Amino acid sequence: MSYLISFEGIEGCGKTTQLEMAAKFLRRSNIPILTTEEPGGTPLGDRIRKILLNRESFDICAEAELLLFVAARAQHVREVLQPALAKGQWILCDRFSDATMVYQGFARGIDEKWIKKLNDFATMSLKPRLTLLFDLPAETGLRRALQRMTNLPENSKEDRFEQEGLNFHENIRNGYLSLARREPDRFRIINAAEDITAIHKEVCRHLETLRKNS
Ligand SMILES: Nc1ncnc2c1ncn2[C@@H]1O[C@H](COP(=O)(O)OP(=O)(O)O)[C@@H](O)[C@H]1O
Ligand SMILES: [Mg+2]
Repeated sequence: MSYLISFEGIEGCGKTTQLEMAAKFLRRSNIPILTTEEPGGTPLGDRIRKILLNRESFDICAEAELLLFVAARAQHVREVLQPALAKGQWILCDRFSDATMVYQGFARGIDEKWIKKLNDFATMSLKPRLTLLFDLPAETGLRRALQRMTNLPENSKEDRFEQEGLNFHENIRNGYLSLARREPDRFRIINAAEDITAIHKEVCRHLETLRKNS
């Protein structure tokens, strides 16, 4: 049985940290896995990622931003996700369609109906079986994200979204929580303010439940 599992939440909530730990846990259990991220995961996606996440000298309007995220996703689904699922792998994906609903919909104000249509088009209606939402106050997440970034060279900083105000990130948090309320069977909300080990244990618990039911 293969599954797509997405890791979602605001900047600095611990997605990447927890995804790497979850990958090790699944590998130890001999589950064939693939780890990947959005935007990215393909050569085209990586090029688009640089445009979207690195601070550039030009403006990107909300509509163009939406289409770039969705373009990267269309390539990712066809080139990486579908083939991996066909091979029976579990996919751990750092952000997926929900991020677009929340960032470009809730926060940037683009009509949700558009985003849903474009997401369905890009993904061929592929949805995660499980979405882990790492929830914490925007202030804490941003502090962690900026801290992590201070050690990186200026030209590799993926901080275009971190430049947005606290209010933007609070909207993102609330957007995720409202998506989770709409689809309680798919989402698991995890308190990301806990320490790394406690969060990892909870992630493992959810993965175990999925495995037992497969
Ligand atoms: N539970 C936690 N408590 C404290 N610091 C954390 C926790 N989880 C992650 N971090 C740290 O916060 C920073 C951001 O974590 P990261 O996993 O990169 O977040 P994301 O991928 O969601 O942006 C990293 O420096 C990481 O070591
Ligand atoms: Mg990350």
